Amino acid sequence: MKRLGVGFVGTGWVVNTYHIKAFQGVRHADIKAVCDLKEERAKSTAARCKELGVGNPKTYTDVSEMARDPEVDAIWITVPNFARTAVAKAITEEVIQGKAELVGIVCEKPLARNVKEARQMLEMVKKADLLNGYLENQVFMPSLVKGKEILWKRGASTAGRPYLARCSEEHGGPHEAWFWDASRQGGGALNDMLCHSIEAARFLLTAPEEEKQALTPRAVSAEIASLKWSTPRYVGKLKEQTRGQIDYSKKPAEDMGRASIIYETKSKSLVMSALSTSWSFVPGERIYLELVGPEYYMQIDTLNPEMKVFFSREVKGEKGEHLVEKQAAEQGFMPVLPNEISVYGYMDEHRHMVESFLKGRMPIETWKDGALVVELLMSCYMSAEKNKKLSFPPTGLEDFVPKVAKGTWKPEDVIKTNFE
Ligand SMILES: NC(=O)c1ccc[n+]([C@@H]2O[C@H](COP(=O)([O-])OP(=O)(O)OC[C@H]3O[C@@H](n4cnc5c(N)ncnc54)[C@H](O)[C@@H]3O)[C@@H](O)[C@H]2O)c1
Repeated sequence: MKRLGVGFVGTGWVVNTYHIKAFQGVRHADIKAVCDLKEERAKSTAARCKELGVGNPKTYTDVSEMARDPEVDAIWITVPNFARTAVAKAITEEVIQGKAELVGIVCEKPLARNVKEARQMLEMVKKADLLNGYLENQVFMPSLVKGKEILWKRGASTAGRPYLARCSEEHGGPHEAWFWDASRQGGGALNDMLCHSIEAARFLLTAPEEEKQALTPRAVSAEIASLKWSTPRYVGKLKEQTRGQIDYSKKPAEDMGRASIIYETKSKSLVMSALSTSWSFVPGERIYLELVGPEYYMQIDTLNPEMKVFFSREVKGEKGEHLVEKQAAEQGFMPVLPNEISVYGYMDEHRHMVESFLKGRMPIETWKDGALVVELLMSCYMSAEKNKKLSFPPTGLEDFVPKVAKGTWKPEDVIKTNFE
C-alpha cells in the first residue's frame, strides 16, 4: 500500500500533546511537513516527530508553500479558529490552480466560528474537490464506539432504539489566551467544547446501519452563564494567566453552557441529546457520556479510570499534567489516565482519516458534519440570547454572530426571563 505524506499547519498545543504522538499508532503514513507562523515551533515539532519515529518533516512558515511540497498528500488544519478560513483558502487555491496535488484535507473542531464561515469552508473544499475530514475525536473514543455497538446490537434490536444521549465535556479552562477571547475563538466554553458533545450524542443516537444524516434536528434550547471567571477574584487570575490580554470584567464569555437538541428519526420518533459543558470544572478534563434506551443504559466517565494514585500532604513537587489533562492538584487520591491519546479517540481518529484518504474514500466525519455542528452551536447561542426554545433551523442563522463574540454579552443576561 502507498504511504500517505501528511502536513500539519499549526503546531501548537493539540499537535504536540496529542496528534503527533497518536501517529505512532497510525500505519501507512509519515508526517512529511509541518508549518507554523512561529518558525521555532515548527522546528521543535519537527524534531519531536523525528524522535517519536513518525516522520522527518520539512518545516515551513507559509502554508501555500507547504501545500506545493510534492511529498505532502494531505493537510491537517490545526491552527486557531480565527485562522481557519484564511488557511483553508490558501490551501484550496493552490489545489484549484493546479500547483498542489492533494488527496485530502482535515480540520480540527470547530469547523468555523459561525455559519457564514462554515459555509465558506464547505464551498472551498467543494471547489477544490478534496476528500475532507472533520477532527471530532470523541466519535472515535474506543469506549464510545464499543458501547454504541453493544447497545444497538443487543439492546436496541430487542427493546427499540435509544432515546436519550447525555454528553458533557468539562475542564478548568483553556491554555491559550485566544480561546478566552470570544471574538477570536467564536464564543466561550459552549463553542469550544459543546461541539464535541453535540457530535458524540448524534453518533450514539444514530443506528450503525443508518446514513449519517438520518437524524433531523427539529428544536434547540440552550443557556449560557459565567459562573466563575467573571467574578472579581477570577477576573484578576485570568488577566494574570493571559499576561494582561484577557479582561472578563469588560468582555466576558460564558464558562458554562447547557443545551438540548431534539431530533426526528426517519420513522418520525423523537430522540433527545442533553448536553453540558464548562470551563469551571476544577478536577481536570472529564468526558461524561450516557446513552439511555427503553431497557438498557451505557455510561462512560473518563475521570473514573482503573488506576488511581495517592500522595499524602508530605509529598511536594512541581505542578504538572502527568496524571490527566488539565489536572488541578498533585495531592490526595487521584485518577490517572495512562493513555489519554487512545482514551479520547485521537489515535483511531487519525488512523481512520489516513486509511480513508489512502482508499480514496470520504471519512465518516466530514466538513459537512462540522458545518452542521456549527449550525447547531449557533442555534444554541441564539436560543440562550432569546431565552427561548427554537425550531431548527432558526430564522437568521446564516448571518448570526453570538453576542459573546461581538463583546456585548453580559453575565447578568442569565437571569432575564420572558415573563417579567
Ligand atoms: N480535539 C480536541 O479536543 C482539541 C483540543 C485542543 C485544541 N483543539 C483545536 O485545535 C486547534 C488548535 O488548538 P491549539 O490548542 O493547538 O492552539 P495553539 O494556540 O496552542 O496552537 C496553534 C498554533 O497555530 C499557529 N498558527 C496560527 N495561525 C497560523 C497560520 N496562519 N499559519 C500557520 N500557523 C498558524 C500558532 O502559531 C500556534 O503555534 C483549535 O482549533 C482548537 O479548537 C482541539
